[in-house]
Formats: sequence, structure tokens, C-alpha cells
Amino acid sequence: MIYIASDHAAFDLRQEMMKFLTEMREEFEDLGVEEKRSVDYPDYARAVARAVAAEEGARGILICGTGLGMSISANRHPGIRAALCHDAYTAAMARRHNDANVLCMGARVLGVGVAEQVLRVFLNTAFEGGRHQRRVEKMEI
Ligand code: RB5
Repeated sequence: MIYIASDHAAFDLRQEMMKFLTEMREEFEDLGVEEKRSVDYPDYARAVARAVAAEEGARGILICGTGLGMSISANRHPGIRAALCHDAYTAAMARRHNDANVLCMGARVLGVGVAEQVLRVFLNTAFEGGRHQRRVEKMEI
């Protein structure tokens, strides 16, 4: 399952990403925010992080104004490797080398077209394993 959430700053981009996920026939669960009101991004990062950590193979998408607050918050949760991606290259490397299980994006940083490309690459790129597996394991404290 893919879990997606945003704060108010990324409400519109989240709607676009959900449309895109539907077009790509990806199954997802929307964890809010349910309307454009001012909220605290750590609450939404927590909801996605807990859902992803509880389910083998689950992935998360977290969007705020810059993507920074969501990525910092999500990475405080055990088992979460949240990557703030700005382009196709960082999205591919987040999967290939870091086995990221949560994609973070900044709605005030990316246009819809780039965000769609980042999301597509993130979902379709596999972890390379090998030496990267050891490094990923060392991230867990
Ligand atoms: C909200 O104004 C903004 O601070 C938030 O969306 C995010 O960018 C925080 O990192």
C-alpha cells in the first residue's frame, strides 16, 4: 500500500499526486490533511511513518512546503528512510542506494510536472542491495 499525506502548504500538490496515482493504477490511502486549514506537519509525518513501518513493503509520500519538515519528522520514526527528492536523479538514487520507503517533496519547490516525474521514478526504481544493504542496515540505531 502507498500512504500519502500533506500539510496545508501542499494540499493542492497532494491532490495532483493522488490523481496521478489513480492514473497509474496504484493503490493508495490518503491520510490527510482533509481540507486546506493550517496544520502541523509532524502529525501527518507520524501517521504515514507509522503506517509504513507497520506494513512490509509499504511506501509513503509526504509533502509540505519545502519537504524539509516532513522528511526530518518522518526520519525520527524507526524503520523509516524518508528521502527529500527534487528531481528524477535524487528519486532514483533514493531507491537504488538508500532503499527509501518514504518520498518527501516540497510543494513550494517543485512544479506538478517534475513532482509527477519524481513520483513515477521513486515508485518504479528498485533497491540495488549488495554493499548498499550493509549501509542501510547501519542506519538503524
Ligand atoms: C508551512 O508554512 C511550512 O513551514 C511547511 O509546509 C514546511 O515547509 C515545513 O518544513
